[in-house]
Amino acid sequence: MISKPFVKRFATLATVLAVVANVYIYTYPSIHPTECSWHCYDDNTGIGVIDQLSLWEKAVFYAKRYFDDVRDQTFGKVGPEFEDNEPEDIHLMAFGDPQIKGVWKKTPYITRLDIFGNDFFLGHIASMMRKRLHPSHVVVMGDLFSSQWIGDSEFYNRTTRYTSRIFGRDTTWLEKIKEKSHNSEGYKADWHAWGDSFNEIRSKEKPWDYGFHHSDVYSWDPEKEDTLFINITGNHDIGYSGDITYQHMARFSELFGKANYWIEYDTDTDHPWRIVVLNSLTLEGPALQPEFIETTWEFLYQLFERRFKGSTVLLTHVPFYKREGLCSDGPEFNYYPADFEREAYKKNMLRSQNHLSEDVTNRVLNLIFDNNKQGIILTGHDHVGCETYYNKNAREGTWSASKEKDSQDLTVQEITVKSMMGEFHGNTGLVSGHFNKLMGTWEWTFTLCPFAVQHVWWFAKVTALLTGFLWSLYILI
Ligand SMILES: *[C@@H]1O[C@H](CO)[C@@H](O)[C@H](O)[C@H]1NC(C)=O
Ligand SMILES: *[C@@H]1O[C@H](CO)[C@@H](O)[C@H](O)[C@H]1NC(C)=O
Repeated sequence: MISKPFVKRFATLATVLAVVANVYIYTYPSIHPTECSWHCYDDNTGIGVIDQLSLWEKAVFYAKRYFDDVRDQTFGKVGPEFEDNEPEDIHLMAFGDPQIKGVWKKTPYITRLDIFGNDFFLGHIASMMRKRLHPSHVVVMGDLFSSQWIGDSEFYNRTTRYTSRIFGRDTTWLEKIKEKSHNSEGYKADWHAWGDSFNEIRSKEKPWDYGFHHSDVYSWDPEKEDTLFINITGNHDIGYSGDITYQHMARFSELFGKANYWIEYDTDTDHPWRIVVLNSLTLEGPALQPEFIETTWEFLYQLFERRFKGSTVLLTHVPFYKREGLCSDGPEFNYYPADFEREAYKKNMLRSQNHLSEDVTNRVLNLIFDNNKQGIILTGHDHVGCETYYNKNAREGTWSASKEKDSQDLTVQEITVKSMMGEFHGNTGLVSGHFNKLMGTWEWTFTLCPFAVQHVWWFAKVTALLTGFLWSLYILI
């Protein structure tokens, strides 16, 4: 027989643990308030002083900072006042490679539970950060899913999980799409129709009209929301160029939007800027469908022809070329072998890549950052994260990657956004853009806000359940 005092003691312990864990997961950004906030351009609090404090003083300092931030978040804080004629700061939230997995008939129950919980772990991060920071733009850096080798029905089912569980968004539009195109197994991409219209445009004279151009878009659905949600193509969503098919491109375009486009903002002011969404998986080959490569280059030429005057935020999945040692991933290319019999049509084609090649890197950066205006590049792919400077040599038309700024012409920072997966501590990347009136340029700052491994989130949920169970038991016995 279990005794009442025993249950009580156990229930009290569970309550304490549950309270601590839940307070932690619901206030975690306050532990790193600077990394977990937009950059504040008139904040001059000296960080260096902290190093000189004693251990005890440090503890007091961090505790006070935490509680102050929790208070500000709970009761609201008056933000810095903007002068009326100053352009508003840009607040872009970036999530690296969520790579959600699927459940199959043979998947063991414990793995199913893990996958189910993982969706809500990611969802917790996305909703905490959105409530805290009200971003103007949300970008997922590609590799939304864990595999490009899945059927349309599974692709659709993961899209539903991504949309509803992780980003807490409405899915009625998804259901409408499924009603329109499906077979007995579920959603089926109509890639014939997609391919026909893709090739119809290509059959005309250049410039091909793929609708690359957008301007001043702050939401795809302004009646419902005031954040712009951007999905980037990753190799696990559409494949590397040696395996990208019409089916891959059709379903991605239908469910996540175009693979290549730009949005120009404030073009008739003194502070123009733009977002460039680039499908970096279709830049080099040998490719299964070379027409996709040609189209992406056509996109870049059209972009170049805009002769844009402003600053650029470039969003893409595969990082640019850099020598071994600068980031976790070094340069690497794999090709299907010449005697590849399993899928003979893929022989010699591009099987995987860590970076873009050196030549492609120079060509892409020259086309996008031709105007020598400040900008920032966000990439994904390498889950570990990295920050690199690309230094332009305008005379030679080359860009060299390094850890330091080193160019007379232009330096653009590339941020490889650390993954939001639990193993990498559930990060959120924050890009703040501020227009410096005095200099007449946009300034871009990046910070990374970490959470914790997924077990911490699980622990908070499980102890909360256990607490409820133990107190019920206590009342009953
Ligand atoms: C996707 O979900 C639907 C509805 O729940 C289900 O009938 C279908 O089998 C799923 N597809 C796959 C590939 O599991
Ligand atoms: C990106 O995905 C989200 C969630 O599924 C969706 O709501 C949004 O409309 C997509 N973006 C585009 C440009 O289609």
